[in-house]
Amino acid sequence: CGIVGYVGSQDAAEILLKGLEKLEYRGYDSAGIALLNKGGVHVFKEKGRIAALRKAVDQSASGHLGIGHTRWATHGEPNRRNAHPHQSSNTRFTIVHNGVIENYKEIKQELLGGIQFNSETDTEVIVQLMERFVDDKGLQVEEAFRETLSVLKGSYAIALMDSENDHTIYVGKNKSPLLIGIGQDFHVIASDAMAALQLTNQFVELMDEEIVIVQNSSKTIKNLSGQMIHRSPFTVKLDAKDIEKGPYPHYMLKEIDEQPFVIRKLVTKYQNGDGEITIDENIREALQETDRIYIVACGTSYHAGLVGKQLFERIAHIPVEVHIASEFLYNRPLLSSHPMFIFISQSGETADSRGVLVDIKKSGYRALALTNVPGSTLSRESDFTLITHAGPEIAVASTKAYTAQIAVLAILASDCARNRGIQRNFDLFKELGLAANAMEIMINRKEQIEEIVWKYLSVSRNCFFIGRSVDYYVCLEGALKLKEISYIQAEGFAGGELKHGTIALIEEGTPVIALLTQPHVSGNIRSNVQEVMARGANVCMISIEGIEDKNDQLVVPHIHEYLTPLVSVIPLQLIAYYAALYRGCDVDKPRNLAKSVTVE
Ligand code: G6P
Repeated sequence: CGIVGYVGSQDAAEILLKGLEKLEYRGYDSAGIALLNKGGVHVFKEKGRIAALRKAVDQSASGHLGIGHTRWATHGEPNRRNAHPHQSSNTRFTIVHNGVIENYKEIKQELLGGIQFNSETDTEVIVQLMERFVDDKGLQVEEAFRETLSVLKGSYAIALMDSENDHTIYVGKNKSPLLIGIGQDFHVIASDAMAALQLTNQFVELMDEEIVIVQNSSKTIKNLSGQMIHRSPFTVKLDAKDIEKGPYPHYMLKEIDEQPFVIRKLVTKYQNGDGEITIDENIREALQETDRIYIVACGTSYHAGLVGKQLFERIAHIPVEVHIASEFLYNRPLLSSHPMFIFISQSGETADSRGVLVDIKKSGYRALALTNVPGSTLSRESDFTLITHAGPEIAVASTKAYTAQIAVLAILASDCARNRGIQRNFDLFKELGLAANAMEIMINRKEQIEEIVWKYLSVSRNCFFIGRSVDYYVCLEGALKLKEISYIQAEGFAGGELKHGTIALIEEGTPVIALLTQPHVSGNIRSNVQEVMARGANVCMISIEGIEDKNDQLVVPHIHEYLTPLVSVIPLQLIAYYAALYRGCDVDKPRNLAKSVTVE
C-alpha cells in the first residue's frame, strides 16, 4: 500500500490524487482520500484504481489538509468498505495505514469491546483506539497517538487527521517506510519520494517507532515516549522526468528498452580511470573474510540471485546459497562459520527481506544491500550498499532492475576474484559493453518476438520454459514474467528434470520455450527438446550464436557465457509483454500484485 498526506496553503485534493497516482505501483485494489476543511472531514473512497477514485471525488471538495491511500489488500477483501481512509465511530479521527497490525484481534477483544466495526481491516483498531484513549482516558491527541502506537504490534506507516484540528497531521512509523517532504509553508507525507517530487526534493526520513506532528511550517519528530528528535533533511536526486512514460505505451516497454543504457551506465559507475573496478574497501574486506555468501531476496530479485550464485562460484570460487526471504526467516539454514549476506531488492523495502536482515543483524552478521533505491530501508539498515543504477522502475513486472542486479553481481564477483588472486581470462567491462550491444540487437527484433507470441501463445493457457545450468535460472524468470502480466500458467524447469514427472502435462500443441546459451549443455537440452516434441509439444528454441541450429526460432548474438542472462532474458521479457498485450491485460499493473510489498 502507499500513503500520502498534505498540509499547506494549496488545495490538497489534487496533490493527494497526483501523489497516489505515483504510488499506484504499491497496490491498486482500492483507494481513498480524506479532506479536512471548516465544514469537517470529507472522505472519498472507491474500489479499483486511482482513476476511479478521481471520478468519485467531488470537484467542489476542498481542503488545505488531507490524507490518501492506495491499497494492496491484506485483511479484508478489496472493496469500498475496506478501502482507506478509516474513521473512528464518532468520525473525529481519520486514518490511512500501510502495514499489518498483527495483534488487531487481541486489541479488539481486550481494549475495544463493544465497538461496532465498520470494516474487516486490521487498520480500523488504530483509529478506534484513538477515540477510546481520548474519550475514555481523557488523553490529549498527541499523547493518545503515542499510547495507541505503543499498543500496536506489527508494521505501520500511518497518517492521522483530527477533525477538531485543521492544521495538523499526526504521522507514525514502524517497519513500513515513510518520508516527510519539506516545502515553503507546506509539508507532504509519502511512502516514497516519487509521490512528492513535483512539490519538493527535500525530505526527512522517519525511523521505527517515531511520530511526527506535521503542520504547514513545522514538523516535530518524537519517539513514543515523547522525547524530541532532531534530524536533518536530505535531498532526493531524482528528476521528476525519470518517472514519466514519455512516448511509450507502457512503462514495461520503456524499461525493457532502457536495459542496454543501464548496463553502460553501470560500467561507468563501477570503473575508475585506470579501467579497474571501484568498490568500497569495506565491502572488499568483508568479502575477503567470508567463507560462504548467503543471498536473500524475493521474486525477480531472487532469480537474479540465482544467476549471481553461479557468477560468484564460477568467477570467484566462493560458495553461495540463495534463499527466498520469506522461507529463510522461519526455516533458517545452518550457517557457515563466516557468513556474509547479500540482500537483493529493487525497491529496498520488501518486508520479507527486511525481516531476515533484522534477524541476522541480531546475530551480528554483516549484510550488503544490492538495491536500486539509495536511502531505502534495506540500504540504511545494512552495513554496506551497492546501487544498481537502473533508474526508477515503475512497471510492476521487473525488467531493467533484474539485468542491473546481474551486472552488479558480475562486477562484485570479478572484484572478489581479483582480490583472491584468481586469474581469469575475462575482461569484465569489455564483455559488459558487448552484452549491452547484444541487448540492443534483441530489443530491435521486437517484430520477430511478437510473431513468436502469435505462433506459440495466441491460444494457449499454459507454457513451459526449459533450460539447463544458468539458462534454467533465466527460464524461472521468463516464466514469472509471463505469469505476472499475461496470466498464462507458466513454469520454468530444469530441462533434465521434466521427465521426472512434469512431462505428463505435455500434450499436442503445448508450448515449450527452450533456452540454450551454454555450450556444455547443448546436447542435453536438445535431447530434452526431442523428448517433449515426441509428445506433441510446440517447441520454440532460443539459442545463441555459435551453438545454434538452422531450425532455431531465435538466435541471440554471441556474448561471454558468464553474461548470457543479460541478453537471453530480453526475448522472454518481450514474449511476456506481447502475450499480455494480445490478451488485453493491464501490462504495467497486473491484477493482485504490487511492485513493492511492504508486508510479510
Ligand atoms: C513484488 C513484485 C516483484 C518483485 C518482488 C521483490 O512481489 O511484484 O516483481 O520481484 O516484490 O521486490 P524487490 O523490490 O525486493 O526486488
